[in-house]
Amino acid sequence: MTFLITGATGSVGRHVVDELLRMGAPVRALTRDPAGVGLPAGVQVVRGDLARPETLVPALRGVTGVHLIDVGGPDYAPQPHGKEVVELVREAGVRKVTLLSGWSTGTLEAAVTGSDLDWTYVQPTEFMVNAMAWADSVRAAGVVEEPFGATKTAMVHEADIGAVIATVLTGDGHAGHSYGLTGPELLDMPAKVRILGEAIGREIAYVELGVAEMCERYRARGVPEELIAFQVEAFDVPDGVYQVTDTVQAVTGRPPRTFAQWAAEHAEAFL
Ligand SMILES: NC(=O)c1ccc[n+]([C@@H]2O[C@H](COP(=O)([O-])OP(=O)(O)OC[C@H]3O[C@@H](n4cnc5c(N)ncnc54)[C@H](OP(=O)(O)O)[C@@H]3O)[C@@H](O)[C@H]2O)c1
Repeated sequence: MTFLITGATGSVGRHVVDELLRMGAPVRALTRDPAGVGLPAGVQVVRGDLARPETLVPALRGVTGVHLIDVGGPDYAPQPHGKEVVELVREAGVRKVTLLSGWSTGTLEAAVTGSDLDWTYVQPTEFMVNAMAWADSVRAAGVVEEPFGATKTAMVHEADIGAVIATVLTGDGHAGHSYGLTGPELLDMPAKVRILGEAIGREIAYVELGVAEMCERYRARGVPEELIAFQVEAFDVPDGVYQVTDTVQAVTGRPPRTFAQWAAEHAEAFL
């Protein structure tokens, strides 16, 4: 029994790996560059590139279940070779698949959910780790500058996403399900910033940025236009669009972690 984890070096994948190891399950981690990945001892690290599906063939050998991310190129470009990836999974005799949703629907979602595999589609809302983008300005000026201050989201802790994925991979009864994952509470921007400030023991100012200003800043950092448009669409929404789900608790048996917990765990990065 071995589980192949793609995106294993990423913010969610590392938690999938940790959780599987805690369960005593053998883990194979896929990365484009095995040098210095910093994964725990006992993890079998293999080279592979989701943009070149043929490189997955050796990685899939002897695998019981596979966790897939919907990435197939630079800047989180969605997977263009979804059918081919699913075919390789089937040919390798793998039955169980978890798929983590990407920011845009590529060809993988349809290929996985339309297949006869025992798939589970994991669709988290905004990751708490996105708050790391505020670390520089908090450290330098004690400020967070973001638009859409009133939009309430139920950010989810990466460890809870990892725990759900590991539970699904190792357990039964999840095939054919799509799981929308959230944290335990809806928070607007001032609330998120206040919680972060409490965790670091310093008041942090929240400055509401104009949307055009945000887009300009993303452009200056080389973020692709489609990804910028997605950011606007995701946050420029009326009240009530985002809701809390009970899926983390239902699947793992544990309540989802709060943003206050996340902030306490990562406080050092903001000091
Ligand atoms: N941030 C959010 O709020 C949010 C919400 C919902 C869904 N998502 C989605 O969640 C997914 C994972 O995000 P994350 O934050 O965990 O990622 P991350 O921390 O930025 O790490 C990216 C991961 O993707 C892997 N990767 C990238 N291109 C690859 C390729 N061509 N072949 C193989 N592996 C590749 C990297 O592996 P190596 O560099 O080691 O090869 C790395 O493990 C993304 O698809 C993202 O769109 C994000």
